[in-house]
Amino acid sequence: MTTILVTGGTGYIGSHTVTALIQNGYEVVIVDNLYNSSKAVLNRIETITGIMPKFYEMDILDRDGLDRVFAENSIDAVIHFAGYKAVGESVEKPLVYYENNISGSVNLYQAMAKAGCKTLVFSSSATVYGDPEKCPITEDSKVGGTTNPYGTSKLMNEHILEDVCVSDPDWSVMLLRYFNPIGAHTSGLLGEVPNGIPNNLVPYIARVANGTLEFLRVFGNDYPTPDGTGVRDYIHVMDLADGHIGAVRYAMEHKGVEHVNLGTGRGYSVLDVLHAYEKACGKQLPYRILERRPGDIAECYADPSKALRLFGWKARYDIDEMCRDSWNFTLQNPDGIK
Ligand code: NAD
Ligand code: WQD
Repeated sequence: MTTILVTGGTGYIGSHTVTALIQNGYEVVIVDNLYNSSKAVLNRIETITGIMPKFYEMDILDRDGLDRVFAENSIDAVIHFAGYKAVGESVEKPLVYYENNISGSVNLYQAMAKAGCKTLVFSSSATVYGDPEKCPITEDSKVGGTTNPYGTSKLMNEHILEDVCVSDPDWSVMLLRYFNPIGAHTSGLLGEVPNGIPNNLVPYIARVANGTLEFLRVFGNDYPTPDGTGVRDYIHVMDLADGHIGAVRYAMEHKGVEHVNLGTGRGYSVLDVLHAYEKACGKQLPYRILERRPGDIAECYADPSKALRLFGWKARYDIDEMCRDSWNFTLQNPDGIK
């Protein structure tokens, strides 16, 4: 059996990916320090799949701990989700972000090299494209111009791993550039549980829909887009999880580094998403137009054809299904995953 180490495996994208891995016949070992997730996620995964994954409550900053994980398990490949992801917080605490997202990641890569496990799927982000020159964005588009330490930490990880692949041709590395993951598991058992007031659009709308927040603040309606609000490529988290199955399979058969977009290829505006959510929850949702949010760009959507070409992946869920599953999860888990 193929065994995959998943760092950050109890988090939002990690938990969906672990579920998909188990359902595709992989054995999974999770390392997570539970900074932004709860142990109860493991029970949810067991409820869906019938299998409880092996779990290490551990920080990737713990080098000896990582060596122990590789010594105790025969790991064939690693999917690396663990990291901090709050854009605004990264501007306030750059060193904290670089320590976790860079030092933690380098620890992991060193532990992999030591153990002779050189197959890796890394969670990168469309944020590495900065303000894109054109949409849809292809993987050979210019990268850089990130506007915050979080985004820069993703780009730095990409460069680190590119260098690793130059130094040692035995490595296989997939740098997956996610667009905007939203939605939740169709079972309603897994989903995103933001800490405090959400920064991202859909978790914020979910709280307007359940009455926790009064109205959506739409950040700007004077962008050069069809309705003036920002356009993004929202992707269902279950599609994203499936993309990791394809990527890990590909990585196990090919050496070298690949950069791959995971998006739907379709852009939706803030108001499009709001209206899709209104359909999902069956009520009108109040909003107000505010100033643009600093650091935001007008539009960002993927050309996802490389993922289809390399490993046969394309997104299946549409925006209505993404909002339906987000709302279902919100209703079923008023106190998060406990
Ligand atoms: P998440 O916060 O839900 O999951 C990350 C998990 O990593 C959490 O369970 C957290 O407890 C764990 N973690 C953090 N630091 C750790 C450490 N030092 N040691 C061990 N575990 C640690 O986030 P997510 O949305 O599932 O994102 C997963 C990955 O995908 C992240 O690397 C993120 O930057 C990247 N990404 C996310 C998005 C998005 O919009 N959600 C978009 C692009 C890329
Ligand atoms: C989407 C659109 C906002 C909230 C961020 C990170 C990116 C990636 C995904 C990790 C924009 C508008 C939002 C609100 C609004 N994460 N908006 N009111 O900014 O595209 O990407 O998450 O890698 O790195 O930057 O996502 O969901 O915050 O915003 O009007 O309350 O919704 O202006 O147009 P973003 P988002």
